[in-house]
Amino acid sequence: MDPNNPNRESRSTPQYALYQRENFWKSNDGQVPPFNTDPAQLEQLAKSKLTQNGWYYASSNAGQSHTHTANRQAFYRHRIIPRMLVDTNQRDTSTTIFGHRVPAPIGFAPIGINKIYHPLGELPVARAASSLNLPYCLSTAGSQPIEDVGKANDESAGSEGGVRFFQLYMPHDDELTTSLLKRAVESGFSACILTLDTWQLGWRHDDVNTSNYAFYHGTGADLGLSDPVFQKRLKEHGIDPKTQPNEAGALWIDNVWHGRAHTWEKVRWVQGLWKEISGGKPFCLKGIQSVNDAKRAVDELGVDGIVVSNHAGRQVDGAIASLDALEKIVDAVGDKTTIMFDSGVRNASDVFKALALGAKFVFVGRLWVWGLSIMGEVGVMHVMKSLLADFDILLNVAGYKNVGEIDRGALESGPKDYPLLPVTANL
Ligand code: GLV
Repeated sequence: MDPNNPNRESRSTPQYALYQRENFWKSNDGQVPPFNTDPAQLEQLAKSKLTQNGWYYASSNAGQSHTHTANRQAFYRHRIIPRMLVDTNQRDTSTTIFGHRVPAPIGFAPIGINKIYHPLGELPVARAASSLNLPYCLSTAGSQPIEDVGKANDESAGSEGGVRFFQLYMPHDDELTTSLLKRAVESGFSACILTLDTWQLGWRHDDVNTSNYAFYHGTGADLGLSDPVFQKRLKEHGIDPKTQPNEAGALWIDNVWHGRAHTWEKVRWVQGLWKEISGGKPFCLKGIQSVNDAKRAVDELGVDGIVVSNHAGRQVDGAIASLDALEKIVDAVGDKTTIMFDSGVRNASDVFKALALGAKFVFVGRLWVWGLSIMGEVGVMHVMKSLLADFDILLNVAGYKNVGEIDRGALESGPKDYPLLPVTANL
């Protein structure tokens, strides 16, 4: 790609495609690109860098991974129809999410316990996200204090600060929930995304078989340990986190993934709480897969957004593909709320397909976890810059000028089909 291409001057979003050139050129300067971003190779490289427990947790899915496989199969059945001779010289990858203009419809999905992937946990990820001006979502199961993640996310951002959302796993302790949400608001998190599909973790064979629950082994409870209400709970239980890290971690995570379901009434309560604390900032539900639930979320609660997600296949095994759910949910409520998507995204064409089916925004998870595991912040940057370049190039070669042009007419879709295939992550 010609770096002096005159379209540079007229583009409002970064020339992400130039990252391809930067890497093509590298060997002339005696350099090599950081690593191969082909998802299958990324995954294998991450595996070679992680401890067994880190690897199992990153890769685990519910049961036999059939939901994960379905997620990937669903992408495969939709095919992009390229258009030729479209003037894509001034293409624009940007979009708007909850009033924030962002340079691409791509964000960092909330993923907990990043310390099992990197000693600094969530901090390098939050920094990488704002370096790229992409929204970052912090998980309640994160392994750094909310305040530190907020600061890290602002460090690499422009003067307006990073765009960040807080993903809530709602405890059955209202005082604790209130404290977490207050901390999030005070730390600049501008939307609350309540996850509904994980009152407890799904049955994941490898993790169970290796007692792989970091919090019970003294790692990853920092978000809780830094909370004043949780500190009070520790005292009430007579637990000293310094001498009893396993017990402290257990008390924390047993409040987060408690196994006791919440109901629609409780969601109404927490929505009101968030609105009050945040002064009306967006409140979203994550984990919706059924049209009925989506309708209820919109009609009864009037939520600002829905993340159509099946937790990347980590919760209910043998479930429908999240991409198949997306299509129906968009048809039912897509004009009434902001529909976002995650689960199974591995490259730019997956992002494109989710947008074509009606998602307004797409979160990626495992891709950045692998990058983090391989090379920390540099690894996250490489993975995400590659994804952005891939997306920018895809618009160029497929003949799309901007994100708004991507609709169902961009796809030819085969029938739904879930043949039982060997479980490979990247089909
Ligand atoms: C937590 O969100 C998990 O999937 O392990």
